[in-house]
Formats: sequence, C-alpha cells, structure tokens
Amino acid sequence: MAALRCFARTIASKKIISAKGTGNLETLRYITSSGIPGLSETHQLLRKTCRDFADNELAPNAGKIDRECTYPKEHVKMLGDLGLMCVDISEEDGGTGLDYLAYAIAMEEISRGCATAGVIMSVNNSLYLGPIKAYATKEQKEKFMYPFLHGDKVGCFALSEPGNGSDAGAASTTATLVGNEWVLNGTKAWITNGYESEATVVFATTDKQLKHKGISAFLVPKPTEGLTLGKKESKLGIRASSTCNLIFEDCRIPKENLLGEPGFGFKIAMQTLDSGRIGIAAQGLGIAQAALECAIDYAQKRQAFGMPISKTQIIQTKLSDMEVMIESARLLTWKAAMLKDSGQPITKYAAMAKLAASEAATQCAHQAIQVLGGMGYVTDMPAERHYRDARITEIYEGTSEIQKLVIAGQLLKEYASV
Ligand code: CAA
Repeated sequence: MAALRCFARTIASKKIISAKGTGNLETLRYITSSGIPGLSETHQLLRKTCRDFADNELAPNAGKIDRECTYPKEHVKMLGDLGLMCVDISEEDGGTGLDYLAYAIAMEEISRGCATAGVIMSVNNSLYLGPIKAYATKEQKEKFMYPFLHGDKVGCFALSEPGNGSDAGAASTTATLVGNEWVLNGTKAWITNGYESEATVVFATTDKQLKHKGISAFLVPKPTEGLTLGKKESKLGIRASSTCNLIFEDCRIPKENLLGEPGFGFKIAMQTLDSGRIGIAAQGLGIAQAALECAIDYAQKRQAFGMPISKTQIIQTKLSDMEVMIESARLLTWKAAMLKDSGQPITKYAAMAKLAASEAATQCAHQAIQVLGGMGYVTDMPAERHYRDARITEIYEGTSEIQKLVIAGQLLKEYASV
C-alpha cells in the first residue's frame, strides 16, 4: 500500500492535468488498443496504480464480499487514501485534482477488480460530489464536501421513487418551507450506499403543479430525525454495496440546505446523471474486461479435442467479438469524458457510452460463461459474478431504453438545427 500511496501522491502532484482538465479530443487520434501511447503520463500512471491496487487488494476479496454481502469498508478507505473517492474535485477543495478521463480510467480498473467497489466509488464521485462541486456554497462544501473526500464518509443520491424511476420528473417527495426549515415527506428508492452514507443529495418537489420545474435539490445529513432506511435489498449483483429506500417523514433540514436555485433540481439531476453515466460506462468496461480476461485464461489452459480450446476457431470468434465490443465502448467512454473535460455538451455521448459499455459488459460476461462451460456456472470461478454484476449497468443511472431515448432526442435536435 505504501508504494501505491506514493504513486497516488505522485499523480496528485503532477501538473500535467489541471483541476479543470486538459483532456483533449486530439488524444483520440493516437490511442491504440495495445499501449495507449496517446494517454498522458499521469493517466498511464493512474491506470497502472489502479490496476495494481485492483489486482492485489480488490480482486482477491471480491468473491467473498459478494457471497457474504459485506460492505468493503477498509477498501473504501484505501480508495480514499489513493485519491479515488474525489478524482475530479480540485486540489484547492482538497480533492485529487484530476480530470474526467482520469476518473473513467480509474473506474474501469477498480471495477475490473471489484464491481461493488466500483459502484461505491462512482456514487460518491459523480452522483454525490458531482452536484455539490457544481452548486454548493462555501458553507455547504464545509459540511457536505470536505468530510466526504477521502473514504472516511460516503454520500448518496436520492432521485428515484417507488412510483417513478425512468420518469424522473414525476417526483412526488415534497419539500415545504416552514419558518427556517424545509420539511421533507416521501420515499426515495433504489439508493446505492443508502446504509453507509452519511449524507444525501435529495430531489423533492415544492410545487407538483409545476412538474419538473417544481423540483429542487437538498442536502440532507444522515442520520437526521424523520429519515429512516427501508430494508437492505437482496440483489442479483454488486451485492456488497447496499441499496435501500430512504423514507422521509416530516424530516426537517435547515433552509440553507437547498442546493442551487429553487426549481432547478431537475436540471441538476439531469446534469449529474450525464456525468454519472460516463462512470457507469467505465464500470461496465471494467466488468467486461474482467470477463474477457477470465475467458482467455481458461481457454488457454482448458484442453479439448487434444488442444487448448483457445486454438479452436469458435472460441477465437467469441474472444474477438468481446474485444471489439470492449474497445469500441472504451473509445466512446473516453470520448465522452474528454468532451466533458473540454467543456462541451456530453448528454448524447455519455448516453452512447453507457449504452455501449453496459451492453458490452452483459454480452462479454455471457460469452465468458460459454467459454468456461460448467466452470462458468459455479462460484469457484469469477465468471458467474461478472455475469450478475454486469446486469445492473443496463439499469441504474438510466436503463438502456432511456439511453436510446436520450440519444435519439439529441440527434433529432442536432438535425432540426441544421
Ligand atoms: N441536462 C440539462 N438539462 C436537461 C437534460 C440534461 N441532460 N435533459 C433534460 N433537461 C432539461 C430540458 O432541457 C428541459 O428543460 P426546460 O423545461 O427548461 O425546457 C427539462 O429538463 C425537461 O426535459 P425533458 O422534457 O426532456 O424531460 P423528460 O421528463 O421527458 O425526461 C428523461 C427526460 C431523459 C427520460 C429523464 O427523465 C431521465 O434521464 N430519466 C432517467 C432517470 C435516471 O437515470 N434515473 C436513475 C437514478 S440514479 C440511480 O440509478 C440510483 C443509484 O443510486 C445509482
């Protein structure tokens, strides 16, 4: 760990990438699947650091924490020590000060070792700290950002409700201003990090008549009187992270915990999800890559018909299909991250990246099991876990169907303006 921390400090101290980021679309011209020579020294160092950490610390424990559904508290702290819980928060604000391409690279490598660690990291970085970075006041940052940067505390993001997931604008959780306090009532659903988080960004409506324009964002510390947790969901994958409902019953928070302008909550949620989807795309890439590596390793060792099965064309076809899917999705994911780093619109590319990478994850994990046969179906090997972990990437932070709506909506706008 000491060596890794040293790497992390080196990365943080490099000024190759500023806090605002210098991710550049030109970089894409030089990227190749093998050595990635176009990546800056910082990005390459970060990639190696995260890969070593994932191989040495995360992957050996990923099966156990999945089976036992135990939150990896120590690993979260280690991620924090490596600067991976606040990748794109500026050094001025106490963060690692890297850009979004760095975040995507780190997310892929961490998720390649353990998809549960990946989602905990992604929720803290993009869904929780993301909107705080963009909209919090100095005072709000003191309470809700600084303690959440280094893995000591994690945050969560409460948008979905039992009655509306994809239709995020139909929020029915209410916020009413009474004197100097907001009073929240309603239930938020599917909240990743729900049990362990010590604060949440919550979206609630102050006027349901106004539909999405009545929604505002609020910062709620946990625990707070009037906020209780629903049961911990028993899940198919990412089983060591918690998912639960947050139930608000006359939950009072100070007036100053409004995040951003009143009525601006839906935009904050949408902007946050645009960035978050790049992180989930990277998580999908990590799972897909792990599945591919598991399949290659097995295929080279497993003998059938007098030779390793890797020598058969049917297995080679599967491996090549997997590699093409992963590399295509990686280029889309990095392009989306670089667009964000250069301040350009990302809605379409983030949705395309998430769609491609999450489908790559599920398809690669499916094919990896085919390569392993019976060994793919049992828990002695990680293939079945990758298959279960992959599935959620097509659901959270917007289903694949929602990504297609977003992509088509943006495309039609582009052509309408021609
Ligand atoms: N950025 C900024 N503004 C945006 C935006 C974006 N990406 N997308 C839409 N908007 C704005 C529009 O410009 C419009 O603004 P005006 O009213 O000023 O014109 C407003 O928002 C409404 O836009 P739409 O009419 O397009 O909105 P809609 O109600 O039709 O919904 C949607 C669009 C894309 C379907 C959206 O509801 C959506 O993304 N749904 C999926 C939600 C989602 O991803 N949920 C996951 C929750 S997080 C999670 O998974 C839990 C976890 O813990 C990991």
